[in-house]
Parts: sequence; C-alpha cells; structure tokens
Amino acid sequence: MIEFAERIRRIPVYPVAGGYAQQEPLVRLASNESPYPPLSAVRQAIERELANLNRYPDPACSALRRALSDRYNVPGSHVAIGNGSCDILLAAGEALLEPGAEVVYAWPSFSVYPHLSAASGARALTVALDEHERHDLDAMLREVTVATRLVIVCNPNNPTSTALGLAQIADFVAAVPRHAVVIIDEAYCEFNLLDDPDASIDLLARHPNLVLLRTFSKVHGLSGLRVGFALCGSEEVPRALDQVRQPFGCNALAQVAAVESLAHQDDVIERVRRTVQERIAMEEGARALGLGFAESQANFCWLRLGADRDEELVMRGLLERGVLVRAGTALGSTQPALRVTYGLPEENARFLEALAEVLDAVPAR
Ligand SMILES: Cc1ncc(COP(=O)(O)O)c(C=O)c1O
Repeated sequence: MIEFAERIRRIPVYPVAGGYAQQEPLVRLASNESPYPPLSAVRQAIERELANLNRYPDPACSALRRALSDRYNVPGSHVAIGNGSCDILLAAGEALLEPGAEVVYAWPSFSVYPHLSAASGARALTVALDEHERHDLDAMLREVTVATRLVIVCNPNNPTSTALGLAQIADFVAAVPRHAVVIIDEAYCEFNLLDDPDASIDLLARHPNLVLLRTFSKVHGLSGLRVGFALCGSEEVPRALDQVRQPFGCNALAQVAAVESLAHQDDVIERVRRTVQERIAMEEGARALGLGFAESQANFCWLRLGADRDEELVMRGLLERGVLVRAGTALGSTQPALRVTYGLPEENARFLEALAEVLDAVPAR
C-alpha cells in the first residue's frame, strides 16, 4: 500500500460539478462561469502569442503587472498574479498557516477554504452566516485571537450570492489586528451593485495586512486560461507568496489575454449589465414558482427549495432534463437549496421551465 502524507487524509477533494461520469448536459449552470465567450480582441491576442510558446512565460508577468497597477492604481510590487485566484489562495495558506495557527472564515463559503487548514495542520474556525445568509462580521471578529494568521471574507459570497457593503467591510478590516492577514475574496465583485466594485481598493493604503483577491475567470470570461491576481496592502505578502509557489505560475496565453481584456473595460461592463438583467429574470421566475432566494449580488443565485423538498430528486430531475446546477447541501447548506449560475437568456428560460416541471413531479413532503 502506498503511504501518503498524513494531510492527504484531511484534505477535502474539490467537488467537481456533476461528477466525472455524467453525460454532457445541455445547459451548464453549475460553475459560475461567464456564458459569453472571450472577446474577439482577446482571442486575437492569444493567437499572436501562440508562436512564442517554445519560450517560458515572463516569470514576473511584467506587462500584466503594469496593466493591473495602472488600472487599479496600486504599486506593481503590491500585485500578486497566479494560475487562477485559487493558486494565490492556496499559496497564502502555505505562507501563513502551520500547526498552532488559526484561520477564520464563514460557512457556507467557497469550497476551497477548508483546504487551507487541512493542508497546513492549522485550526479552522468557521462562523455561520446570518439569517440573510450574509457574513456575520461581528461573530467572525470574536474568533480572531493572537493565533489567527488569516481571515477570509468572500464578498459577494459563494455559494449564497450575498454581499456586504463597503462600510461594513472597512470597519471589519480596521478591527482585525495587523498580525493577521485579511483576504477579501472579490471573485464576483464586478456583479455587486451595492458599491463601486473598486471602492475597496482605497482600503489598501491604510491596511498593510489586507489582500483583495480577484480573478479573470468570472466577469472576463477566461476561466479556461487560469489567471487571477491579488492587490495587496504591502510588498511583503506578494513576496511571501512567490517564495512558496513554483516559478512561471501564470502561463503566457493567460498573461496576454488578461492584458487585452483589461483594455476592453466597456465590453466588460456591458456583460455585467446583461448578467444583472438575467438576475432580474431569474428572480421573477423563482418568485413565480414560489421559491425563496437570497439577495444576489453575484452572477449566480441561491434558491431555497424549502426544508420539505428532496434536493437530490430535484437535482436528478434537472439533470434528466439536461440542466446542470449545484446542490446546496454539497456546498455546505443545512437546508435544501440550489446554486444556479446565470447563463444566456435561453439557458435560464430552459432552467426555469425544467425546474417548474421538476417541482411538480417532486412536491414538498
Ligand atoms: C469565491 C471564489 N474565489 C475564488 C475562485 C477561484 O477562481 P479562479 O481560481 O478561477 O480564479 C472562485 C471560483 O469559483 C470563487 O467562487
């Protein structure tokens, strides 16, 4: 028998939407991806870069670092770039956590967070969301101790789609002692209409322990390329992340695509507008079916099926109709729920039609 490291027994396996053996669904609304293909200028930039793939990528991601620094008005040395924002998250766990250290985050939240404590042997303190399925920041603050090295706030929160306003986030960051790093995971911030998505960046100047984690996977529609970044309140954090990561961690195609996508801000904003339209349509549809839902500030919604409804039967019924979404209980919910990414208008209509049929076939017990 092969003997693996002890931590392998603790590390949860990342839940793959729909499992490996599913037949190809017609409508994929399970991974919070963009339904829109990459912009044509981005595709052209990728094509131009193909000829250089015999070379390693720029390890410093110089052009992308400059573009991010200009776009967000943050020094280039305060920017970390990775193979998706997950890469940065895992590196932060490696750089900060060890046995005896603590990490604080809400639950349910992004399914990768439990990996950090499991991989490092640190203690995870998870704090329940409030009755609106938002982060309870006061309760999280009560869990911060001298042993806390990392606090993560997912805003908007995956999987519940809810967000907190900047004023609350700012007070929270100010209250966390500086020995602990605070990561605000802003993977979906562009879809949050509560505040200007970039307003949080002003906090970096006051908090050297703050990290804003962002990605090109969602609003920029580049999930398949894997590129994410962090804007940090100090140089120390990006330096430590680089110490624990492999060099050349962001591939050449991802670097040029991200630079090009940043240059097309108007198209990105137009996609947000279309997504928010779908949010409204989806909420109307859910209301018509008598379902409750959390207040979404993301590119997905969190539909409550009701305690008496069999979530698994609903999921199965949707799959039989070619629609793939995520089961809430698999994402940490104690109540039956569905996490549904907003797709194209016709995909969302197909989902709502299928859901109406399934709810008829699977009535509440
Ligand atoms: C909250 C949150 N953070 C980070 C990520 C990771 O994104 P990526 O690694 O594609 O940048 C995701 C992806 O679903 C997410 O939901």
